[in-house]
Amino acid sequence: MSFAARMNRIAPSATLKVSAAADRLRRQGVDVVDLGAGEPDFPTPAHVKAAAHEALDQNFTKYTPANGVAELRQAICQRYHTDYGVTFAPEEVMVTAGGKQALYNTALVLFDHGDEVITHAPYWPSIPEQVKLAGATPVIVQTSPEDAFAIHADAILAAVTPRTKAIILNSPSNPAGALISEEALATIADEAARRGLWVIADLTYERLIYDPVPHNLPRILRDRMPDRTVICSAASKAYAMTGWRCGWSLGPAAFTAQCNALQGHATSNVNSITQKAAIAALTGPQDGVTMMRDEYRRRRDAVWEWITADPRITCVKPRGAFYLFPYVADVLEATGLTSTSAFAEALLDEAHVAVTPGEGFDAPGFFRLSYATSMERLQEGADRIHAFIARRSGQARPAAAGR
Ligand SMILES: Cc1ncc(COP(=O)(O)O)c(C=O)c1O
Repeated sequence: MSFAARMNRIAPSATLKVSAAADRLRRQGVDVVDLGAGEPDFPTPAHVKAAAHEALDQNFTKYTPANGVAELRQAICQRYHTDYGVTFAPEEVMVTAGGKQALYNTALVLFDHGDEVITHAPYWPSIPEQVKLAGATPVIVQTSPEDAFAIHADAILAAVTPRTKAIILNSPSNPAGALISEEALATIADEAARRGLWVIADLTYERLIYDPVPHNLPRILRDRMPDRTVICSAASKAYAMTGWRCGWSLGPAAFTAQCNALQGHATSNVNSITQKAAIAALTGPQDGVTMMRDEYRRRRDAVWEWITADPRITCVKPRGAFYLFPYVADVLEATGLTSTSAFAEALLDEAHVAVTPGEGFDAPGFFRLSYATSMERLQEGADRIHAFIARRSGQARPAAAGR
């Protein structure tokens, strides 16, 4: 069969591959500890579900404007005003099927063949894949665990060429949980403004930051380059709403009009019931967000201790999102495995623990472990990982870390 050439440019999602393999085992009755999932284990808050029930009862089940109902766009503006002190107008908001569609619209609206788009690795794989689908070329700037995967302005700016169209920054980042500093963003924004580049901030995990560090990225971008800033985010992670599919982009009105035209032909409006639920999420009580974040922090601290109990495994403590990204290159050789892909495959087959190998994030030697699951399952997963490494390398497993 012959398919369009663009399909040769992209690779299937590594995360979805792991989920499918874990699911196959589960259906055979195997007790799989799934640390592969990129989604909250919490249920959607009750008041959000109630708003969806009400929408159904009121027959709010018809098409809406492709860019979303005015009340939701207003609620998104209000949220950013409350959280960041930044003013957006409803015509600058596009409601999308998750953060993913916000980013994809942005890629198709802004990037052409021949354009280069800079982003940082380890990355969420859809970012460079979407750039490629738009016909442009991703230019990857590596970050390093030695300085906690910090995004350095000079490294990003050193990658700029006459072909550069945009810079995509993801903070907190998936998979490393790194944050860009306000200073680094300000430097990037000033230079981007000078050179006429776009800056796209993927803030999908913006509500999941564990320490009270300054992270007002919308303010910095809005102040320095309002005409070429796009912010993409979603209700998915903050409100445990991954399946509802609600995200948004915030950008100049002319850009948003282009997104509206594109989405109007591709998928039209986000599910009408979801939109009502998202209004409740954004305008209702926010204590659920804090409760979930505090629980993720507790899990992060615990699982980080457990995983790094083996001194051969090193791991930066993530500052946001809900993933650990341990470096296991030093145990690979001992376990007779040659890559983290092989490691993840064997771990799933032999110890029934699903993790995502680093290769998919452009970070061989690492794997991603999601701690958006219960403390008991995390403990079981960490135990199994250590037992697997010990069994494979013929050593006793490290003493459990203080528990
Ligand atoms: C960095 C990042 N951006 C965007 C998304 C998109 O999220 P969604 O489309 O589920 O809202 C994800 C999802 O995992 C992500 O990790």
